[in-house]
Amino acid sequence: MDERFLLMIPGPTFSEQSVLLSLARITRSHVSVEFENILKESLEMLKKILNTDGEVVIMPGSGTSAMEFSIANFVETGSRVLNLVSGYFGEYFIQATRARGGIPVEVRSQLGRGFRGDGISELVEKEKTKVLTVQHVETSTGVANHIRSIGEELKNTETIYIVDAVASLGGMEVNMREWGIDVVFTGSQKALAIPPGLAIIGLSKRAVELIEDKKKDLFFFDGRRWLAMMRNVRNYFSTMPINMVYALNESLKRIMSEGLENRYLRHKVIAEAIRGGLEAMGLNILADKEFRSDTVTAVWLPEGVKFQDLNNEMTRRNIMIAGGLGELAGKIFRVGHMGLVNPNDAISTIAALERSLNKLNYPIKLGSGVEATQQILSKHGF
Ligand SMILES: Cc1ncc(COP(=O)(O)O)c(C=O)c1O
Repeated sequence: MDERFLLMIPGPTFSEQSVLLSLARITRSHVSVEFENILKESLEMLKKILNTDGEVVIMPGSGTSAMEFSIANFVETGSRVLNLVSGYFGEYFIQATRARGGIPVEVRSQLGRGFRGDGISELVEKEKTKVLTVQHVETSTGVANHIRSIGEELKNTETIYIVDAVASLGGMEVNMREWGIDVVFTGSQKALAIPPGLAIIGLSKRAVELIEDKKKDLFFFDGRRWLAMMRNVRNYFSTMPINMVYALNESLKRIMSEGLENRYLRHKVIAEAIRGGLEAMGLNILADKEFRSDTVTAVWLPEGVKFQDLNNEMTRRNIMIAGGLGELAGKIFRVGHMGLVNPNDAISTIAALERSLNKLNYPIKLGSGVEATQQILSKHGF
């Protein structure tokens, strides 16, 4: 397959050429003033995106290591943690909690549904939990939890509120200060549109204070060491992935120049257009209407259509989609629409799905999905 293919998976996503080229810049010393300036500028842009009154940590890694950082620094041995699970990645939080000696109190949503704020503070009080974890977007189901209303409920409690925004940050609003979020994290390879390799963690002022007062000593994931290095790169602890920070810096500049509101609107409209096209083809979306994400959509495979066959047909048409994870493997397919996704990508994907499904004997009037997608895009002036 040549480079003219579309990566419509929920990460990794495409990066702009300028972002990729920045990886090829000369590597500076990790303790140089030049690098420090780029790091500081990147941290400032991330603080704006997150709207935090605290600080941001950038480290080598991925979404999972950012999750482990978050749990390691805020979960003590014996701490009770309310893990709100709406799919495959919700389970990661349970494993990470256990691995740090915490006691997971698991609450699971029905498949296709997520969590809202109502009843959450009562639950926290009843279960005597100190920490709450939730995905913003649960990538395995395309469910978006209502992290704003959960945060508003938690404001009356002492709970440390940890949000996994791996599949949303950069594509959907995450407002730490207004929504009362203490810790939020992502990896570089999703809606921030940078290759895989960075873990990014946003901390509220309270979270920074908690890290600084912490008695427990950690090693690689010790927040105090990372905060010290973010404040001054000469507080060397572990070598930063210099070129990845160049790429981050370039991508963040592009995000800021698009404008956050424009960027979130682009994601929202494209998500709606893709869903409209899928539904017009007679396909069923896994997530309930009130919990649908703007960055990824999971779709039930029609009867008689195997994921592998659909994937082969789509690949033949130069479009990559994703399959189901865990118990949903073989039952659904997923379309990622985050990062640099544009209206043409939505139309091409729906058009290729029409032809691919037709080829697999799922009857579709060619153009029916595309027409719906076009109508939605055009209604929003795209
Ligand atoms: C919501 C969510 N959390 C965590 C992860 C794990 O991230 P990574 O694969 O970067 O370690 C993913 C990966 O897709 C994810 O979508």
